[in-house]
Amino acid sequence: MFTMLLLPLLLVCALMASQASAFPKRHMVNLPPYLQNIKRSDTGNYQIPSDVHNGSSKAVFDIETTTSTLTTSTLLSLDAPKLDSINGSVFDWWYFDVVSEANPDDSVTVTFFSSTVEAFPFLAANQSSILTAWIWASFANGTVVADYVPATVATVTGVDGTHTEGSGHWFPTGFGWGASTAPQTRYVVSIASEKIQVHGRLTLTATVPYHLPCGVQKDKSILEIAPHIGWVNAVPDAVGVVDMNIRGSSLKFQGPGYHDKNWSDRPFMESVESWYWGHGRLGPYSIVWFSFLSLNDTTNSTYVSSYVAKDGNVLVSACDEKLLTVRPIGAPGTTGGRYPPKVGDVPEGFHLDYDLGEEIGHLKVNVSTRALVAGDGEYYGRWTGELVGEVVKPGNDTRGACSSDSGNGSDAEEISLVGVAVFEQFVVVE
Ligand SMILES: *[C@@H]1O[C@H](CO)[C@@H](O)[C@H](O)[C@H]1NC(C)=O
Ligand SMILES: *[C@@H]1O[C@H](CO)[C@@H](O)[C@H](O)[C@H]1NC(C)=O
Ligand SMILES: *[C@@H]1O[C@H](CO)[C@@H](O)[C@H](O)[C@H]1NC(C)=O
Ligand SMILES: *[C@@H]1O[C@H](CO)[C@@H](O)[C@H](O)[C@H]1NC(C)=O
Ligand SMILES: *[C@@H]1O[C@H](CO)[C@@H](O)[C@H](O)[C@H]1NC(C)=O
Ligand SMILES: *[C@@H]1O[C@H](CO)[C@@H](O)[C@H](O)[C@H]1NC(C)=O
Ligand SMILES: *[C@@H]1O[C@H](CO)[C@@H](O)[C@H](O)[C@H]1NC(C)=O
Ligand SMILES: *[C@@H]1O[C@H](CO)[C@@H](O)[C@H](O)[C@H]1NC(C)=O
Ligand SMILES: *[C@@H]1O[C@H](CO)[C@@H](O)[C@H](O)[C@H]1NC(C)=O
Ligand SMILES: *[C@@H]1O[C@H](CO)[C@@H](O)[C@H](O)[C@H]1NC(C)=O
Repeated sequence: MFTMLLLPLLLVCALMASQASAFPKRHMVNLPPYLQNIKRSDTGNYQIPSDVHNGSSKAVFDIETTTSTLTTSTLLSLDAPKLDSINGSVFDWWYFDVVSEANPDDSVTVTFFSSTVEAFPFLAANQSSILTAWIWASFANGTVVADYVPATVATVTGVDGTHTEGSGHWFPTGFGWGASTAPQTRYVVSIASEKIQVHGRLTLTATVPYHLPCGVQKDKSILEIAPHIGWVNAVPDAVGVVDMNIRGSSLKFQGPGYHDKNWSDRPFMESVESWYWGHGRLGPYSIVWFSFLSLNDTTNSTYVSSYVAKDGNVLVSACDEKLLTVRPIGAPGTTGGRYPPKVGDVPEGFHLDYDLGEEIGHLKVNVSTRALVAGDGEYYGRWTGELVGEVVKPGNDTRGACSSDSGNGSDAEEISLVGVAVFEQFVVVE
């Protein structure tokens, strides 16, 4: 079995090294015939059919973690489908983005969905397949291109926990990704679609370690970031490079890149009251935020996941709600800053407050919106934007009468930390 695998792997490496124009397709020789459910072969390759499964779907919400850091092959297994079938009320998807560090109005997001529109209502109402590959591209002049291609079958390979290279393809859309986790984590998302006139690639070379909702835990790590919501963040920050041609226009830039996947065993709208998420980089800091209120939650919890790395070293990767506060900022005279938010509240930015512990203090970040890249302006928005932050040391006098920076102010260690971000909000409560 080992030798059977080796040959295609070597072939892929050789093609990658020679910079083949499209990312090479993995040989699918070991796949079983197309069946009703998601099928996993002996070699850990998955096939997802395009029609809705009639029956119950089972989700996985944890992962065995016998070591305190994930091995390169476990890391790749984070990309495995997390449901055994896609019925009308579940979803599973793979998300990639890059935003330009020079001008955050330039961005590209690519998402590979396996979901009905009943489970995730932000998909196209008339989609003909549960498998769709989407792209959102924003240009500096304000133009946003959003489009998708339905697939007839999807494959996800190399994610059985023994490989360091893998791939995903939504056939025959021309959308796919290739991944390698050794010697470093790298993803190439490639698109070759005549149908929507998009050609090119998005490359992520990770600059920081992976992020699980609550970090790596002993024996088993939780992947359920909030009730019924699964999340793994293989690439919290990366050197992202976009080189695409979109409907005749060239789009090329570099900046912070990101990859995660999320899934659920029930419809999105039954889980979410509000959902804030984003990622970005400012100075040496790579950040990811997630803050979520669950619909009809009797415990009144705020579900958060906090991630900060400095120069590639993780400072926090945890889900304790005391470690991160995310609050909307509204323009004067609007409800944009209301918290908890209601449908139609459109913020002009967010305040983030990361607790990095007594030694370091707090990383405080203001996020301000630039381009609206996706969304309906009511229930959902995805923006690119700018970040301004500072690290505030645990001062002895921060609540005192004069905490100004006059003299040798010791509160703000670093001022003018600036950067760019991609972020979202979903608000479902009327
Ligand atoms: C789904 O399965 C149920 C029970 O097996 C069956 O009664 C029903 O007709 C099926 N629906 C479709 C659309 O196949
Ligand atoms: C899909 O599976 C989930 C989880 O098992 C179940 O709760 C739900 O009722 C199923 N939905 C349909 C439409 O069969
Ligand atoms: C779906 O609807 C959109 C607009 O509502 C339309 O542009 C598109 O062509 C439709 N797609 C199909 C497959 O009918
Ligand atoms: C904006 O840029 C895009 C991509 O280059 C181009 O297709 C579009 O025509 C431009 N729009 C305007 C109003 O200049
Ligand atoms: C969920 O999916 C969205 C894509 O719509 C992605 O932007 C986000 O990072 C994911 N977050 C979580 C916490 O699941
Ligand atoms: C949440 O609660 C409201 C009213 O309390 C109810 O109308 C709604 O059906 C509930 N939603 C879910 C998903 O339980
Ligand atoms: C629930 O949380 C909200 C927001 O933090 C707060 O305003 C409210 O008082 C809390 N309600 C209860 C019953 O604890
Ligand atoms: C963030 O915005 C607030 C005002 O809303 C301001 O007081 C604070 O200084 C800003 N922080 C930074 C780092 O710019
Ligand atoms: C704060 O400073 C005062 C006077 O400089 C000192 O007496 C006090 O112990 C300090 N408190 C802490 C918590 O460091
Ligand atoms: C400010 O404090 C730093 C150390 O925290 C010290 O090196 C520097 O000399 C001080 N500057 C002034 C003007 O007091």
